Amino acid sequence: MANDPKSGPTIIAIANQKGGVGKTTTTINLGAALAELKKRVLLIDLDPQGNASTGLGIGHDKREATTYDLLSGDVTIKEAIQQTMADRLNIVPATTDLSSADLELIDNNKRSFLLRDVLRSDETTSLDYDYILIDCPPSLNILTVNAMVAAHSLIVPLQSEFFALEGLSQLILTVRDVRQTANPDLKIEGIALTMYDRRNNLSLQVEDDARENMGDMVFKTVIPRNVRLSEAPSFAVSVLAYDSGSKGSTAYRALASELIERTKKKRAA
Ligand SMILES: Nc1ncnc2c1ncn2[C@@H]1O[C@H](COP(=O)(O)OP(=O)(O)O)[C@@H](O)[C@H]1O
Ligand SMILES: [Mg+2]
Repeated sequence: MANDPKSGPTIIAIANQKGGVGKTTTTINLGAALAELKKRVLLIDLDPQGNASTGLGIGHDKREATTYDLLSGDVTIKEAIQQTMADRLNIVPATTDLSSADLELIDNNKRSFLLRDVLRSDETTSLDYDYILIDCPPSLNILTVNAMVAAHSLIVPLQSEFFALEGLSQLILTVRDVRQTANPDLKIEGIALTMYDRRNNLSLQVEDDARENMGDMVFKTVIPRNVRLSEAPSFAVSVLAYDSGSKGSTAYRALASELIERTKKKRAA
């Protein structure tokens, strides 16, 4: 059964309506770390800015079949998937075509289910991915709703800065809404603290706040602020390929292991 998370890939949306909190960085590097651990990983670039595509070396000239074409039904998932430089790490790239405005035009009953229909299809299941990670745009628009309807769970990157927790309640309201209307099984897989700086009191405070309010939902692993993470995309590779021994690489490897443990437990349950 394609809807059973025990068969088919585990689909995770990386979402937070704030920009610049580390969604794309997490999608690319968590994906690369899972692939390094021998998991087969597909990234879906669901942000019209296409930063995940650029960051993994899919230049604009190479984006012939995109997430937009996939959602429009113009191409099959097989046709839209591209290889990256890393083994077992593939991506469906995005361009500015992917505007939420176009999706708004589609029949109300269907438009939230476009991505789900693709990712929970037998065709996608037959490709044998272990994980599909969806890089969401910085908004709670129809694109993000599509990701939430398609996904089994969400990872929410939280920048370790002032106001980090602001907006989280709005995100959670949207999750509730999606649960009530379209995807009752949607879970929050975890909250990942990003750009964490142990020397900064504010980081410690945000961490305390998050762990106090959200408990085990917060991943044990925190992602430090690490310049290698911001440099890697300009070399069109993940941080693991760019500087394997960096703190950024170590952190995303740890997050990948923690995620595998979490999803294993859930699948066994
Ligand atoms: N842990 C980190 N350390 C240093 N820079 C980071 C880190 N995470 C993200 N960045 C940088 O911060 C900026 C925003 O990150 P990005 O992943 O693009 O956020 P989003 O996708 O949520 O908008 C990018 O320039 C990125 O390289
Ligand atoms: Mg982004």
